[in-house]
Amino acid sequence: MRLDRILSNLPRFNRQEVRQLIASGRVKVDGHCSRDPRLDVSLFNRVELDDQLVQAGKTARYFMLNKPIGVVSATEHPAHQTVIDLLNEPDKHELHLAGRLDLNTSGLLLITNDGQWSRRVTQPVSKQAKVYWVSTEQPIEAHYAETFAAGIYFKFEDLTTLPARLEILAPYNARLWLYEGRYHQVKRMFGHFQNKVIGLHREHVGAITLDPQLAPGEYRALTRAEIASV
Ligand code: URA
Repeated sequence: MRLDRILSNLPRFNRQEVRQLIASGRVKVDGHCSRDPRLDVSLFNRVELDDQLVQAGKTARYFMLNKPIGVVSATEHPAHQTVIDLLNEPDKHELHLAGRLDLNTSGLLLITNDGQWSRRVTQPVSKQAKVYWVSTEQPIEAHYAETFAAGIYFKFEDLTTLPARLEILAPYNARLWLYEGRYHQVKRMFGHFQNKVIGLHREHVGAITLDPQLAPGEYRALTRAEIASV
């Protein structure tokens, strides 16, 4: 939200007064005087007027979890344990998932309270590759790679998937790079060839790699470099 909007929400000042307060240098954002009424201020910024606190500024939190099979990618669920249940963190209800994995998919799941960051992770424009290790029921044929690179038409959404890269590792195993996250996307892409996915594990999201030290169900805070990579 713009800085002038945040201050206008205080009952004591009208818009004209807010403009003057900002112009006269009485407002600080994260400890620095700001004279720009249009400055984009998030929930994570501290805002002060003279030396009075207007907004404390929340701490942005970022985690990676090694999601186990059988745990649901949701914040609440009536029947299944959720990935949020696996976290031992205060104020867990403030956290959300930066992308989801199916119940029977394992691997890298990103969790945060920073909505702008999670949008960057999930929006195809930011071109963050999601890399999956895939195991199938039938042999994976070489020509799948061309079809995946060209895109597959999904009738339900009336769209063609973005170019994806397939590397065949063994007759029944492959690694797949996707740049978007459609509903059951990997299973539907292999389903195009009537080849059922029987194992799916996410290894990377952009430059963030699932930490091999994390056993299924374990998590850790992201490093500064990992957060900045998105
Ligand atoms: N594609 C799928 O089909 N399932 C997932 O969990 C992720 C991608």
